[in-house]
Amino acid sequence: MAKTILVTGGAGYIGSHTVLQLLLGGFKTVVVDNLDNSSDISIKRVTELAGEYGQNLIFHKMDLRDKPALEQLFASTTFDAVIHFAGLKAVGESVQKPLLYYNNNLIGTIVLLEVMAAHGCKKLVFSSSATVYGWPKEVPCTEEFPLSATNPYGQTKLFIEEICRDIYRSDAEWKIILLRYFNPVGAHSSGYIGEDPRGIPNNLMPFVQQVAVGRRPALTVFGTDYSTKDGTGVRDYIHVVDLADGHTAALCKLFDSNIGCEVYNLGTGKGTSVLEMVAAFEKASGKKIPLQMAGRRPGDAEIVYASTDKAERELNWKAKFGVNEMCRDQWNWASKNPYGYGSPDSTD
Ligand code: UD1
Repeated sequence: MAKTILVTGGAGYIGSHTVLQLLLGGFKTVVVDNLDNSSDISIKRVTELAGEYGQNLIFHKMDLRDKPALEQLFASTTFDAVIHFAGLKAVGESVQKPLLYYNNNLIGTIVLLEVMAAHGCKKLVFSSSATVYGWPKEVPCTEEFPLSATNPYGQTKLFIEEICRDIYRSDAEWKIILLRYFNPVGAHSSGYIGEDPRGIPNNLMPFVQQVAVGRRPALTVFGTDYSTKDGTGVRDYIHVVDLADGHTAALCKLFDSNIGCEVYNLGTGKGTSVLEMVAAFEKASGKKIPLQMAGRRPGDAEIVYASTDKAERELNWKAKFGVNEMCRDQWNWASKNPYGYGSPDSTD
């Protein structure tokens, strides 16, 4: 019997790629998403890309904080596990509007966990972030590193991790995997789904992509005086399809072993600087990306990359793609969808 997975935030960037990989892997998926920061066009496209498996995808527009609606969903469907992506994720906005972030991310998660417990569904994969390592004292980051948060968005990731550890301590029937994502980039190789941030992108590659298609004049490089090979910040970029496959590996672990509450890094283990990433994108796209050198962005770490040993060893998962494939697929998506899922008038 195919297992049925509830995917919260499944219309978003990482969610939509994960739903596609789950469908292709033979899972049934039910997506709930409030569409605050995503489009249901991604759901339609995932359904098409999944071919005959597309019939195994059901979508409900729903906010997790709407407890009666979530209760009703759990009453009508038996879920084998939940993958919880839903949440707000813009660091700068979280500093401006902390209550919005605490309300959305924490209350949404608490309601979800309450309803799961009430219905005896106690298997969870949660989207955490490398942001919980703060400014790491050394690299690569292992799962045992001390945790810290420098902004409300990061706090919500940290709090939710702690909530998960606490509920497992209180009830050993729970099986929980916390996945700490490094920097997801790229898109599905079809170029049919990809990242489509609202407003001005905060993250590097969505910004680069918008410069390449002519929506923005230049990329501002935040910081050129870091102690790195070329002075710019170093990150662990991971292809979103590799990241999506990491969720299938995590689900298999939940179903096949006596895991309690465990945490895994999902990264490549390789560090790439801003200038290296821009060069790889220019090569993949044939477009010149004009640069504006600027000071450091407050709160930015110098070098962050993952230790991938634990995920390789225990999840049997390893990223397959490198930065050239990430940039090729990012450009394929960007050139086919210069305005994402919208039109020139629907974005700024
Ligand atoms: C950021 C968030 C992190 C979040 C992650 C999600 C901050 C401080 N951190 O991480 O909490 O989990 O996104 O993917 O926002 N850069 C530029 N110009 C730009 C944008 C970025 O030079 O316009 C540089 C940054 O200084 C950094 C690198 O590119 O060195 C990557 O930045 P970004 O994509 O925002 O990711 P993180 O900072 O790693």
